[in-house]
Amino acid sequence: MLGEEHRTMAERVFGIGIIGAGRISGAHARAAGEAGSTRLVMASEVDDKRAHEFEAKWHVPVVSDYMEVLNNPEVDIVSLTLPHWLHEPIGIAAAQAGKHIFVEKPMADSIEECDRMIAAARANGVKLFTGHTEQFLAPNVKARQMIASGEVGLPVLATDCWYKAFGVAARPPWFLDRSKGGGMWLMNGAHMIDRLTYLMGDRVVSVKAMVQTRFHAIQADDTALAYLEFANGTGATIAHTGYKDHAGAGVDQPGGEIVITCTEAQLKIVDRNRLFRSVPGDRGGAWEEVVVDRVDTTTVELRALVSNIVNNEPETVSVEQARHIVDVMTACEMSSQTGREVRIND
Ligand SMILES: NC(=O)c1ccc[n+]([C@@H]2O[C@H](COP(=O)([O-])OP(=O)(O)OC[C@H]3O[C@@H](n4cnc5c(N)ncnc54)[C@H](O)[C@@H]3O)[C@@H](O)[C@H]2O)c1
Repeated sequence: MLGEEHRTMAERVFGIGIIGAGRISGAHARAAGEAGSTRLVMASEVDDKRAHEFEAKWHVPVVSDYMEVLNNPEVDIVSLTLPHWLHEPIGIAAAQAGKHIFVEKPMADSIEECDRMIAAARANGVKLFTGHTEQFLAPNVKARQMIASGEVGLPVLATDCWYKAFGVAARPPWFLDRSKGGGMWLMNGAHMIDRLTYLMGDRVVSVKAMVQTRFHAIQADDTALAYLEFANGTGATIAHTGYKDHAGAGVDQPGGEIVITCTEAQLKIVDRNRLFRSVPGDRGGAWEEVVVDRVDTTTVELRALVSNIVNNEPETVSVEQARHIVDVMTACEMSSQTGREVRIND
């Protein structure tokens, strides 16, 4: 039986404030309406056009100063859907204002920034939940279950390839500047490291990588190739490009293709929404689809955060995991700069 205090918490409706009304903000607004025990209260956006569009679509006030969101007593949780370089300063301000934080991935641009955010969250008794979507996608969840249960044997190695057009003209200026957290590596490398560590069920201990700018005249990367070594001695590779947009430069893959080779079968995840496993066939095997339901990942993530708050339990995406992904991302950049393998000591 829940105690009275607990019951009140469990029945509470949590107010959501969104800071940054850009590309991904709609997913957070929708989740606030669908998670069940949450409601969207307000948002903040510095760009007037985006502010008006958000206000018209979601029917909540949109202010230019995010401190108004942090000072609103009706806001319990803030979604930080911001350029990467603003995750840390606004995340710390949110923690100091006593708001639980749902920050989009990656947690921040460096482990030093992560450490300051984690310290602020812990000092102020608020949750710090990083939106590592890949851990909530149905094909990934099912594949992880199949690996953890042993039904496909032990994982041996994985490959993760994702090729897409960079779309320079449509990108905001911060995305073309690494000093502001821009580039494909922080945007999509974060997803690829997240899903590989999740699927393989292990931590990375060493990396060798190249993170380069090959297609565009920008101050941020558009190409990455990485080898990750896991603690148990298995490994994975990542290949990612944000190639030129003109026709014929490449073929867009919405979410890439991951193949996990295990001792008893292979698993393949395509475009983030289809899962296949290898079965015996005439010519050394064939792919058979494992049908999974589609889920709205942001809604599932928000429900998990609310459950973490209500039950006063650690974040479902632990701060250590989110920090580890940033550690691996930045170690890959360092490996690329030095030409050497970089050990991960977190
Ligand atoms: N989970 C996913 O699949 C997924 C997909 C896309 C983006 N993301 C993540 O979402 C985050 C945002 O990415 P995006 O593509 O939506 O970026 P974006 O540039 O489209 O949106 C960011 C918005 O923040 C606003 N902003 C900047 N400074 C502000 C301030 N001080 N106060 C209020 N608003 C401010 C900008 O004007 C912009 O509208 C990033 O962390 C990114 O990695 C996640």
